[in-house]
Order: sequence, then C-alpha cells, then structure tokens
Amino acid sequence: MQALVTGGGGFLGRYIVEQLVSRGDRVRSLGRGRYPELEAIGVEVVRGDVADARAVATACDGVECVFHVAALPGIGMDWRPYERVNLRGTQNVLHACRTCGVPRLVYTSSPSVVFNGRDQAGVDERTPYDFDWMERNGAHYSRSKALAEQAVLAASGGDLKTCALRPHLIWGPRDNHLIPRLIARARSGRLRRVGDGANLVDVLYVENAASAHLQAADALASPHSPVAGGAYFLSQGEPVNCWVWINQVLALAGLPPVQRQISRGAARAIGAVCETVYRGLRLKGEPPMTRFLAEQLARSHWFDISAAKRDFGYAPLVSMAEGTERLAAWLRATGDGGRGRADGK
Ligand SMILES: NC(=O)c1ccc[n+]([C@@H]2O[C@H](COP(=O)([O-])OP(=O)(O)OC[C@H]3O[C@@H](n4cnc5c(N)ncnc54)[C@H](OP(=O)(O)O)[C@@H]3O)[C@@H](O)[C@H]2O)c1
Repeated sequence: MQALVTGGGGFLGRYIVEQLVSRGDRVRSLGRGRYPELEAIGVEVVRGDVADARAVATACDGVECVFHVAALPGIGMDWRPYERVNLRGTQNVLHACRTCGVPRLVYTSSPSVVFNGRDQAGVDERTPYDFDWMERNGAHYSRSKALAEQAVLAASGGDLKTCALRPHLIWGPRDNHLIPRLIARARSGRLRRVGDGANLVDVLYVENAASAHLQAADALASPHSPVAGGAYFLSQGEPVNCWVWINQVLALAGLPPVQRQISRGAARAIGAVCETVYRGLRLKGEPPMTRFLAEQLARSHWFDISAAKRDFGYAPLVSMAEGTERLAAWLRATGDGGRGRADGK
C-alpha cells in the first residue's frame, strides 16, 4: 500500500517507516526536517508542517493509510504550540483524509489523555478523559492529545476508518527523549526519586509500538473491523516498578541508582512554583518540574491491553530482556545515545 507517516523521521515514526518499507509498502514521510536516512531506504520525504493544511493535503494525495505520529511532546507551559501542532495538525490530517479519500488513519495518541493525577492500576479504555484536571494542572500536552484523539475517533465512519493507539513510555535505541534525559539528569546529580518508590508503570519497547501500528492499520482494512473508532492502550503487558526500571537504565549507562528522594507533595509544590516562574517570566523551554510531572513520577499508571490483543492481535514480540540488550548495545555504541549532556538537550 501507499502509506503516509507524519513524523516519520522521529523516534517512533522511523521504526514504523522501517517496518512498512521492509514488508514492501511504499512510504511517504511528512515532517519539517531533512531525513537522508529515510531517503536512503526509499522513502519519499516531504517537508512540511502539520499545522499547514495545504502541506498536509499534498502529502495525503494518493495515500491508502495515514499513520499520524507527528506531535509536539513535553511539559511546556504555553498552550498555543500544543494547540497548533497537536490539535490543529490532527484536524488538518482528518480534513485531508476526507478530501483525498484516504480510507484509513491510525493516530498515535498517549495514555496521558486519561491521566487524572491519581493512581491508575490496570485500567482499561473505559477510563474517561478528565479535561478539568488537565486544565487545572497545566497538562497542555495531554489535553491537546486528548482533544485530537476525540476528533480522530469521532471522524471514523463512512469511507474513513480511524483508530487511536496509546503507547506508554516508549523506549529503545534511538530514543531522543526519555532515556537521554534520564541519563543526563542523573549525571548532573539532579535526578530524585519522587514519592515512595512503589509505583508501577507500563513501558513499551519501540519496535513493539511500531508493529502495533501496522497491525491496527491492517485490521482497519477488514470490513466491520472492531478497531474502527476505537482507542487502545499499548504496553509490554508487564508493568515495572518505575524506579527499579529507571535504576536499570542508569546502570546500563554505568551510573549509580537514584540516591535522593522527595515526597510527591513537595515535588508538586516545586512544580507549581516552577510553572508560575516560567509562565510569569515567559521563559523558553520546559520547567525542570511541573505538577503534572510530579504526579506522573509518583503515581502508578499501567493499563489493561486485552482490547488491543483481542481486536488486532497485538503482542509484544520483543521482550523486556531482549529490548534491554538492544538498548544497552545502542548506548555503548553511541556514548549514552550521544545525549549525555547535563541539559538533556
Ligand atoms: N515517546 C513516548 O514515550 C510516547 C508515549 C506516548 C505517545 N507518544 C506519541 O508518539 C508520537 C511520536 O513520539 P516520538 O517519541 O517519536 O517523538 P519525536 O521523536 O519527537 O517525533 C516527533 C515527530 O513529529 C515531527 N513533528 C513535530 N512537530 C511537527 C510539525 N509541526 N509538523 C510536522 N512534523 C512535526 C518531528 O519531525 P520534525 O521535527 O522534522 O518536524 C518528529 O519526526 C507522538 O505523537 C507522541 O505524542 C510518544
């Protein structure tokens, strides 16, 4: 098939692109940057911004399945960039799918669309969005992803079938966010355990996240697929203790376990101060702590993935042990992913 992957040059997007190419699909990628590594494997790289409706429509021409992966991640304090890229960008993708007659759309969502600041242990897709909590806690990324997800799911019907996948804490080689930042923070002595250290979280090896996207897309192609209009949590299927896992990642980089700790309440209070300062002084970049981040680091959040298994045959093909070996090899080969700097940038 002819596929379009928005954000095909990013961490997850590139794995989706590679899996599509290796099974013989024609792939176009849409992003703002140059990606010679994608061109080298035969991908048509289109440069453009998802917030530009015309660029998205051009990229969707002749496409049979869109994987809308591109997004602005993070914990920035300004709502407007999230609204522009994550919400308006997704609306542009939906509009282009309709006008270009694209029959299938797989949207990369996030479990944080239902995060509400409380422990979430084994919850499933019936968990509602809590827009009120997101607004009160300045969770702009989650809110923009949730509004976009709602639009994607509502658009499923007629000639267009859509679904939303919610992968949790994606990790693996070429990670440009989580792992390099953890390592950089630990190296600079600024990493503290938040909370009592007992919280369980889901994680997901990146190639499993990518293959789930292909499986969901294939399932959407069959008539009366239950996947159409559905949202699905994705994980390794075995939650890990958040801080034990972080310490394992640090050990791969030759770093000691996290030594210092801070209570959830104290981290939340620091987060509130950081947010006020960043907002008040219009500082660029992300605060070192936010109320949302404090809750995320201290709370359990892991999910029931039986719907993804049932509806499109999802299974984590790469185990935690195998994925960890691949991550370790990449860290060794790149010197901590080439991102061992203290600022995590
Ligand atoms: N990583 C995780 O743990 C995680 C967990 C849950 C959900 N997700 C979701 O997974 C998706 C991929 O995340 P990732 O970790 O792979 O992030 P990433 O490496 O930062 O990739 C994001 C991609 O989006 C593109 N992009 C960003 N802004 C754009 C814009 N305005 N127009 C066009 N393209 C744009 C970027 O390319 P250019 O910079 O070249 O434009 C990049 O290729 C996102 O939707 C994210 O919300 C990730």
